Amino acid sequence: MCGIIGISSNKSVSATIINSLKKLEYRGYDSAGLATVHNGMINEIKSEGRVDSLEKNFDLKNLEGNIGIGHVRWATHGVPNSINAHPHSSHNVSVVHNGIIENSTSLKKFLVNKGHTFKSQTDTEVIVHLITENLKITDLEEAITNTLKQLQGSFALGIIFKDIPNLIVGARRGSPLAVGYGPNENYLGSDSYALKSMTNKVTYLDDGEFCIIKKDQVLFFNEQGIKVNKKIFELSSEESSYDKGHYKHFMAKEIEEQPNTIKSGIKEYVDNFNKDINIFNFPWKIEEIKSIILIGCGTAYHSCLMAKYWFEELTNIDVGIDIASEFRYRKNRFKKDTLYIFVSQSGETADTYAALDICNKNNMKTCSVVNVIESSIARDSNFVLPIHCGPEIGVASTKAFLGQILVLYIFILKLSSLRNEINKNQYHKKINDLKTLPELIEKTLLHDNEIQAISSTFNEAKGSMFLGRGFSYPIALEGALKLKELSYVHAEGYPAGEMKHGPLALIEKGMPVVVLAPKDNYYKKTISNMQEVIARGAKVLLITNKSEDEVISENIWETIEVENTNHDLLPFLLTIPLQKLAYYSALKKGYDIDKPRNLAKSVTVE
Ligand code: F6R
Repeated sequence: MCGIIGISSNKSVSATIINSLKKLEYRGYDSAGLATVHNGMINEIKSEGRVDSLEKNFDLKNLEGNIGIGHVRWATHGVPNSINAHPHSSHNVSVVHNGIIENSTSLKKFLVNKGHTFKSQTDTEVIVHLITENLKITDLEEAITNTLKQLQGSFALGIIFKDIPNLIVGARRGSPLAVGYGPNENYLGSDSYALKSMTNKVTYLDDGEFCIIKKDQVLFFNEQGIKVNKKIFELSSEESSYDKGHYKHFMAKEIEEQPNTIKSGIKEYVDNFNKDINIFNFPWKIEEIKSIILIGCGTAYHSCLMAKYWFEELTNIDVGIDIASEFRYRKNRFKKDTLYIFVSQSGETADTYAALDICNKNNMKTCSVVNVIESSIARDSNFVLPIHCGPEIGVASTKAFLGQILVLYIFILKLSSLRNEINKNQYHKKINDLKTLPELIEKTLLHDNEIQAISSTFNEAKGSMFLGRGFSYPIALEGALKLKELSYVHAEGYPAGEMKHGPLALIEKGMPVVVLAPKDNYYKKTISNMQEVIARGAKVLLITNKSEDEVISENIWETIEVENTNHDLLPFLLTIPLQKLAYYSALKKGYDIDKPRNLAKSVTVE
């Protein structure tokens, strides 16, 4: 999952490429590089680390050229260093690549026998030499068509040539790629987000296609090398949301933005006048849907799990959930009356996209819950439920999680009403409760100083556990994921009732354990499980909701009380302290909060 940018212009491109690469760092940030063609030469600069280090290590004024490609890397083959950084070049060809070439070992053998020498440990370098080899025997279009046929795996490519110095080739199989149009220049980008600062007019390549980009013309070709016409889309512009404002980190800003996330979701879907929920243009009759399967990865998968609990509570529909990387390789039994829902913030996650693609190929009903509406997953779903939370830049998902569970909850309520599984009064009451949620989240966000104080205990421990039952279980998983990805401390989310079947052995004196026990139907059971860990020495942080009921405080290390609301909505509130706990833990350790090690925002490799 790397970021690609290419510019073909009538002026020097290196500074613009650098700026675009900075925007693309959410796709990978372990190394960066760029190459231009100038005066009959390919000039290449590469560096380990962030795009900043490219600027520090090289004088960009010396990197002239009106044609160029750039790349930010998230390592798959070969350690992150400057040799393995992209672009990779031969004497004539330079390539940037996102994806994995599965037959690189056999191709490398073939190319070495032909006299090619390799510098890096990457799979990408075989593409460079394969094109170089194919160009010896035929023209550009045929050489590209032949090369793509020889490659197995997934790729988005940007390619420039010393001997054909006026163009960039882009090619796509599996990994997304877009072309943008500007005045006297045209662009290539690994997604439309990369292009947004330069243009709002884009074309998306489909699988198997390639394109030739000159400053004043773009041509598209299919897998057979035959020219095809493509549609130009207009993008919405939200540039202003891409800065941190007065916050130290995007994550801090995105956590605080959550009341607005919920407000925009409610504005989009709730009809205040009729006390109803609007899901416009839903393409199927409700009777056509007998079961639902929700699919996602990471935090988005936790949203799916959350939705499962709500579906079961509010409807009688059969519901299943799946992790996209598992779903895509399993033998699935497709049924015409199943609705497949794909949850993804970026809309570009390779595993989720692949799962969607399998469903589309089997003519299933597909719907996506996404943030980026121009994304591949949104474009290729039959129906889209946008979450409208604005760009999420911090690698750890926060506001998108709340946005996803909000839209799923709203959809479930509507379905329940259409299926006559909820009475009118209850339906209206739940819609009214929903409208109070932004204010309740605002109040919950005020639990700041106490969470800051608590966070050091989690940093100093060998590990921690997050426990919950029922509606709180997905939130326990999410809390543990946030803590481990940001503060690099082992954290495990568990259904509280499962502890006695093994994990209880992990509990030792002083181990911090977060227990999510709102006063819902599971409260008493969770409290019993909490006592079991306390009895074994755990230091318990209890997160519950304010209520008239007796507050249990004996032997509890710390308690946080979120606001009170209807039980369906408590998961929204329980999430907030856990996001803050992860944020402050990482802050105390001085870690890079918006770009945790080894991760990327958009995971476009499988
Ligand atoms: C964790 C996190 C990831 C993503 C996952 C799916 O904080 O952000 O686990 O949720 O990579 O990404 P999307 O939602 O873009 O499909």
